[in-house]
Amino acid sequence: HLVENGNFQWSAPSNIALVKYWGKKDNQIPANPSVSFTLNNCKTITKLAFAKKDISTALNVKGNNFSFDLLFEGQPKEDFKPKIQKFLERIEIYLPFLKDYHFTIDTENTFPHSSGIASSASGMAALAMNLMSLEKVLNPEMTEEYFYQKASLLARLGSGSACRSVKGQVVVWGNHTNISGSSDLFGVEFPNAIHANFKNFQDTILLVDKGEKQVSSTIGHDLMHNHPFAERRFAQAHENLDQLISIFESGNLEEFIKIVESEALTLHAMMMTSMPYFILMKPNTLEIINAIWKFRNETKIPVCFTLDAGANVHVLYPENVAETVLQFIKNELVGYCQNGQYICDEIGNGAVLI
Ligand code: PMV
Repeated sequence: HLVENGNFQWSAPSNIALVKYWGKKDNQIPANPSVSFTLNNCKTITKLAFAKKDISTALNVKGNNFSFDLLFEGQPKEDFKPKIQKFLERIEIYLPFLKDYHFTIDTENTFPHSSGIASSASGMAALAMNLMSLEKVLNPEMTEEYFYQKASLLARLGSGSACRSVKGQVVVWGNHTNISGSSDLFGVEFPNAIHANFKNFQDTILLVDKGEKQVSSTIGHDLMHNHPFAERRFAQAHENLDQLISIFESGNLEEFIKIVESEALTLHAMMMTSMPYFILMKPNTLEIINAIWKFRNETKIPVCFTLDAGANVHVLYPENVAETVLQFIKNELVGYCQNGQYICDEIGNGAVLI
């Protein structure tokens, strides 16, 4: 019952972790649970065209290769293909029809490429959504819940954090005793109501270093095996997530800041204490952190930072102080950004079918 051909288009956003995923077991199973804000403006938009192969072509698949073309911003992009090939290999057991089709994957990001913003989360999520749309055509009876859970599961196999880019606004990935429905296999929407203090929460991303990072996150995750502080770190992630559960309910921004900044610094502390050790922060990352602390001390405005696996700084703050904080960012932080570049984003709702 295969359909002959057609296409879909999905957009999927990036996300920023508050409790960080760093360290994994086989099959992209996280060593600890994580939680993130889904973003709104930083997105990947991917169109998937599919055409059924005729039987002789389908039976004539050479080796383990899938049949697909990859376009990035309209141009063929050969160097992304091995990553997609590996992704398709990993998910074939969940989508057995993959080798019956030739795919054209046409993808673009709303943020500048080589901005140091990882596009793997939004990119893998957008591709997973498209593949699920095809699966739904073939199996129309699936529920919406199944659709999104399986999309997140597939995205996870592309890039771990991608499983948190399917839904919004706050997504938990990884088993945690106090979050019902949480799973190591896919991300779930945070199940409880979130305090109004987090409504339209702002994330201004300061692009400190747009270069290729020296150590990939794949290698970084691996270095958590036999890491001297790994077990304590994984336990701490559970504790921090526990605290965030009550903070999301109470809206206590002071406590929120403590957890979020500590998580960011702990992530980088893990990098600095692995063997081999490495540092992804740049001098301007520290300049920005110090400037944020000074501003917060002086104004008592609840603004804080977080970091992902790179030098860029995410500045997080509530909507009602946005004007003042943005002024501060323009006056005092933009000078630390490469070419003065930054991106204004906020908490968002997840992937969308276009
Ligand atoms: O999804 P990966 O394998 O690129 O890992 C991302 C890890 C961090 O961004 C550093 C933290 C996180 O939870 O997103």
